[in-house]
Amino acid sequence: MRKKIVAGNWKMNLSLEEAKTLAGELKVKIDHHKDTLIEGAGNNMPEVVIFPPYVYVTRMMDLFMYYDGVSVGAQNCHHEENGAFTGEVAASMIRSVGASHVIIGHSERRSQFGEDDKLLAEKVKLALKNNLTPVYCCGEQLPEREAGKHFQVVADQLLHGVFWLEKDQLERLVIAYEPVWAIGTGKTASPDQAQEMHAHIRKLIRDSYGEQTAENISILYGGSCNAKNAGALFANPDVDGGLIGGASLKAEDFFEIIKRRQENG
Ligand code: 13P
Repeated sequence: MRKKIVAGNWKMNLSLEEAKTLAGELKVKIDHHKDTLIEGAGNNMPEVVIFPPYVYVTRMMDLFMYYDGVSVGAQNCHHEENGAFTGEVAASMIRSVGASHVIIGHSERRSQFGEDDKLLAEKVKLALKNNLTPVYCCGEQLPEREAGKHFQVVADQLLHGVFWLEKDQLERLVIAYEPVWAIGTGKTASPDQAQEMHAHIRKLIRDSYGEQTAENISILYGGSCNAKNAGALFANPDVDGGLIGGASLKAEDFFEIIKRRQENG
């Protein structure tokens, strides 16, 4: 089922105290907001997912385990089930502490840790096997866009990373389009650029899996999305929400983005 989602990727930021404060503030704001909504209007609250660093996942689960509307995920998982992989974390471990989502294929993992689509496909397989929702990231670098290759780059990342899945498996994914040139740069994709790529992604899904599957998958935008530009991005028919980096580190900013998603719902 296609959902409106606002997700916060905290990356390698925040002390434990700061993480707890951020999560606590977010909870207070969401509670207050829900209380002030007129009956029934709360139904279109987007799903909120936070992605803290691994070591804080259990602490965040303690806070959000029985809290409706905020899920917790991990920023990565290993591509093997278990074994001698010092410093790594398995999908089964993430699931065992109650987390529900995992980011796979973030451009920072692709570029800094050499993760390619073949490896990412293994991660997706394990995430699904362990009942985690993979948030599969794709997106082009600036020279690729300038050379007019951005549609092909994203198509290849989807083809090799996830289009080998069965239909029922693919429908369990969330896709995040994150143009690399927009991540952490303050240069957001324009609403038109975002819509154009999201429509392209949905068409690729439709061509391979059919209309219903294409309509069921949430496609999030990520890359310098903030409280100011979120409304225009979310107003597009194929932009189902956002994967937010920097602006998810302040409860006020992140909550404003959640509200923009709700207003454009
Ligand atoms: P920024 O919002 O900081 O640009 O990061 C986006 C991102 O990479 C989310 O995964």
